[in-house]
Amino acid sequence: MSLHPSQSPPAPQQPAQKRLTAPDIRARKGLAPIVMLTSYHAHTARILDQHCDVILVGDSLGMVMHGLETTIPVTLDMMILQGHAVMRGSRRALVVVDMPFGSYEVSREQAFTTAARILKETGCGAIKLEGGHRMAETIRFLVERGVPVMAHVGLTPQSVNALGGFRAQGRDPAEWAPIASDARAVADAGAFAVVLEAIAEPLAAQITREIAVPTIGIGASPACDGQVLVLEDMLGLSPWVPKFVKRYTSLAPAIETAVASYAAEVRSRRFPGPEHVYTVKKGEA
Ligand code: KIV
Repeated sequence: MSLHPSQSPPAPQQPAQKRLTAPDIRARKGLAPIVMLTSYHAHTARILDQHCDVILVGDSLGMVMHGLETTIPVTLDMMILQGHAVMRGSRRALVVVDMPFGSYEVSREQAFTTAARILKETGCGAIKLEGGHRMAETIRFLVERGVPVMAHVGLTPQSVNALGGFRAQGRDPAEWAPIASDARAVADAGAFAVVLEAIAEPLAAQITREIAVPTIGIGASPACDGQVLVLEDMLGLSPWVPKFVKRYTSLAPAIETAVASYAAEVRSRRFPGPEHVYTVKKGEA
């Protein structure tokens, strides 16, 4: 397969950089907070790589990049394509790629086949899957066969149809026991870290105390061992964001201003200006 120049690997003069691994992240429990963001392409991965320990190629790409209403329609090919792009853009962060809905739930063998394809075709260092107790046996099977697994409990968006919507979990203490038990089950099965999504703070604190691997929160309070956000949400590009998102900048209005200026300049023939035009080399015409 020939690569387009923009797909080339990093220039050879760059010094070799050791990537963080799943065991490195696992060993951070109780130490410095783990910084994780999503990325789906090479340019943002390059920026994140300087600041993040983990880059997640989340299946949220279905909603963010493709305008889907849920992550359910996301395919394995979509995940592999963007996972590969993020690997090309990054050198230091651990890259974790989500296993999409329908690609791992049937059996542990199906999960291994999917995970192996992701690891081989993207070069990433770990996969993530959603589910607690019901996925514990699969996680053990994958880990025993060399697949580092990040688990994901609490609000699991791939189960949106069963949950009845994207709702915070565990706001009623009566719901805590099964969620805490899910987190213990995946940690005991060998997951190197567990994402806790949209759960009440005391439950996140309890789980973080109880399990031996790092918890990475998204809407799960500062009690977690690390934090993750969807990049486009925190950059102010997403039209709607959940309560737990902090917008660190407002890219959407900045992009709109730039696009409006470009459109006005093209229409008034002020762009391109003389500095953007190729002149003829002396002696060639
Ligand atoms: O797909 C995703 O972006 C995720 C994060 C929200 C954790 O799973």
